[in-house]
Amino acid sequence: MPDLPIYPLSNEHKMLREAARDFAQKEIVPIAAEFDESGEFPTVTIKKMGELGFMGIEVPEQYGGSGMDTLAFILALEEICKADAAHGVIMSVNNSLYCHGILKFGTEEQKKKFVVPIATGKAIGGYCLTEPQSGSDASAMKSRATRDGDSYILNGRKSWVTSGPVADSFIVFMMMEPEKKQKGISAFLVEGNTPGLTRGKKEPKLGIRASATSELIFEDCRVPVANRLSEEGDGFKIAMTILDAGRIGIATQALGIAEAAYEAARQYAGQRQAFGQPIGAFQGTGFKIADMKTRIEASRLLTYNAAIAKENSKKTGGRYSLEASMAKLFASETAMYVTHQAIQIHGGMGYSKELPMERYFRDAKITEIYEGTSEIQRLVISRSELGIK
Ligand code: CAA
Repeated sequence: MPDLPIYPLSNEHKMLREAARDFAQKEIVPIAAEFDESGEFPTVTIKKMGELGFMGIEVPEQYGGSGMDTLAFILALEEICKADAAHGVIMSVNNSLYCHGILKFGTEEQKKKFVVPIATGKAIGGYCLTEPQSGSDASAMKSRATRDGDSYILNGRKSWVTSGPVADSFIVFMMMEPEKKQKGISAFLVEGNTPGLTRGKKEPKLGIRASATSELIFEDCRVPVANRLSEEGDGFKIAMTILDAGRIGIATQALGIAEAAYEAARQYAGQRQAFGQPIGAFQGTGFKIADMKTRIEASRLLTYNAAIAKENSKKTGGRYSLEASMAKLFASETAMYVTHQAIQIHGGMGYSKELPMERYFRDAKITEIYEGTSEIQRLVISRSELGIK
C-alpha cells in the first residue's frame, strides 16, 4: 500500500509497520485458521506481540511502552488485523481501551502498577462496561459499588468482556448513585485475582473466535480506594472518552479485514477464467473491485484522520468523538461490504473454509457491533452535527 501524500509517514512509522507486517505474515497468517476453528486463545503469538512492543505503542517508555504516536499504533494494528482480526482486537483493547484509559485518567502509582505489565507484554488488560441488560444504553447498568472505609465493594455482572477469561486486570465501571444516572458511575481498576471476581463462561462467537470473550461476575469484590480511577462520578465520561480511542482501533480492525479480503479478491479476479477471459474483465466483477478499493481508501483516510485527531487532542485536550465515530461507522460497513463481495467474486471457493474469505466475512460483522454499534455511531455523529444533546 503506498503512502498517502496527505499523511507522510516518518521512517519510524515505516519501520514499525514493516516489523508488524513481517511478524503478522510470518507468524499469524499460518495459524489464524486453526485458532479460528478451535477458538483457542493464541497465547504464544500474543506474548510475542507483547515482546515486540505492540501492546503499548503509545505508552511512554517510562511506563514500559514504545513511546510512539497514535498513527504508529494504527499502522501496526492494521497489519496485525490483515492477518487475523482476533489478534487485532486483543491488541486494540490492550492499547486503546486499557492502557490509554489509565494513562489519561490514572495516578502515577496506578500507571506504574497497572500499565507497565500490559505495555511490556507480560499481562493482558480488559475493559468492562456492558452488562447483560445494558449495551448501547451504558448508564442503565445494574452493577453497584459501595464505599466501605478505605475500600469499595463491587457487585454485579459485566458481559462481552474482550480477553475476559485471560486478562490480568480490568477497568470496571460501576453505578454508585443510580438517581444521578450518568453522573453516578465510577471507574475502578481491578486485578484479575481479586477475591469475589470470577469469570463466566466463554462466549461462543460467530467471528474473532480466537479472542476470548466472557462475563465477569463481581460478588462482594473488595478493591482499595487507591484503585478508583479519577473521582467518584467520573466513570461515564471516562468510559466514553476511552471508547472514542477504542473506536479508532476498531475502525483499523475493519480496515485490515477489508484490505485482506480485497487483496485476495483482486488477485482472483485477475486469474480466474470464465467464458474465455479473467472474471475481472467483466464489468460485473471489475466494478465490484472499483467500489471495494474506493471504499477501503475512504476508510483509510477517515481512520488515519481520526488517529491524527486523537494525537492532536493529547496537546489540546479536545474531543475527537466525531472523527472516531465516522471512521468506525464507515470502515466497519466497508468491511462488511468488501468481505461480502470478496466471497461473491470467489464463488464457491469463497464459501469454503479452505480459503479465509468466509473467516473475514464472519470477523467483519463484529466491527459493526462492539465499542458502539453503527446505530450508536450515527447517533454520535448526528448529535454532534445538529448540536443536539
Ligand atoms: N467524551 C467525553 N464526554 C462524553 C462523551 C465522550 N465521547 N460522550 C458523552 N459524554 C458526556 C456528555 O458530554 C455528557 O456530559 P454532561 O452531562 O456534563 O453534559 C455526559 O457524558 C452524558 O452524555 P449523554 O447525555 O450523551 O449520554 P447518553 O446516556 O445519552 O449516551 C451514547 C450517549 C452515545 C448513547 C453512549 O451511551 C454510548 O456511546 N453508548 C454505546 C456504548 C458502547 O459503545 N458500548 C460498547 C462497550 S465496550 C465493548 O464493546 C466490549 C469490548 O471489550 C471491546
